[in-house]
Amino acid sequence: MYYLSASILSADFSNLSDQIRQAEDAGVDWIHIDVMDGHFVPNITMGPFIVETCRRITSLPLDVHLMIEKPENHIQSFVNAGANWVSIHIEGNPNVHRTLQLIRSLGAKAGIVLNPGTPSQAIEAVLPFIDLVLVMTVNPGFSGQTFISQVLSKITSIRKLIDESNPKAIVQVDGGINPENIAAVAEAGADCFVAATAIFKHPQGIAEGAKSLRLALQKKMRLSPQIQERG
Ligand code: DX5
Ligand code: ZN
Repeated sequence: MYYLSASILSADFSNLSDQIRQAEDAGVDWIHIDVMDGHFVPNITMGPFIVETCRRITSLPLDVHLMIEKPENHIQSFVNAGANWVSIHIEGNPNVHRTLQLIRSLGAKAGIVLNPGTPSQAIEAVLPFIDLVLVMTVNPGFSGQTFISQVLSKITSIRKLIDESNPKAIVQVDGGINPENIAAVAEAGADCFVAATAIFKHPQGIAEGAKSLRLALQKKMRLSPQIQERG
C-alpha cells in the first residue's frame, strides 16, 4: 500500500480550496502542510490558521511537517486546528520524546523527521514511540529542490529498523520526488511519498501530476517480481 501526500507549499494560495479539491479528485491520500519559522529553516511559511483552513476544505488526513524551533509549544494548536499527523525533527530537539508522547496523547499520529545529513541511528531510541518516520531527501526549507539520491541507502536502513521494532509505522519520504525517482524510493523501502512541485506545478495540471506519480509506482509494482527474480 502506497500513499501520496500532496504538499501545498507549491499550491496557488489565491485558489487554495480549488487546488486541494483538484488534488483530492486526483486521488492523493493525504495533504502535507509544511510549517517553517525562519529559525529552524531559512524560510517562513504557514501556521495553525492554514491547517484549520485546509480542515474546512477537505476531509483527507492532514499531515503537518513542523520545521520549527521548540515544536512542543505548538502541538496543541496544530492538533486543535485539525492535524491528523504531526511530525517533528530529531535535530536540535532536546524534548523529542516528550513531544512525541504529547502528540499521541492529543489523539494525533506522531512522526519523527531526519534531515539528509542525520544518520538513521539518531532515531533508534524513539522508534517505539512513533507512527511515521519522515526521511528528508532535500535539506528542508523550500520546494523545488533536487532529490539527494545518496539518501536512498538510509531509507533502506530505516525500513529495516522499522520492520524489526515497529512494523506498523510508515516510512515517508519528502523532497524532490518525481516520476523518475519514485520507483527507486519505493524500492528502497518507502511507502508514503510527499510531493509539492511534481503535483501542484505539473505543466499539465494537478490531476496529471498525481497520475504520473501513481503510474510510475504501478510500473514499479509490476516490475518488482522480475526484479526479485533477477536479484
Ligand atoms: C521541504 C518540504 C517539502 C517540500 C517538497 O522543506 O518539507 O515538503 O514542499 O517540495 P518538492 O516536492 O517540490 O521537493
Ligand atoms: Zn515537508
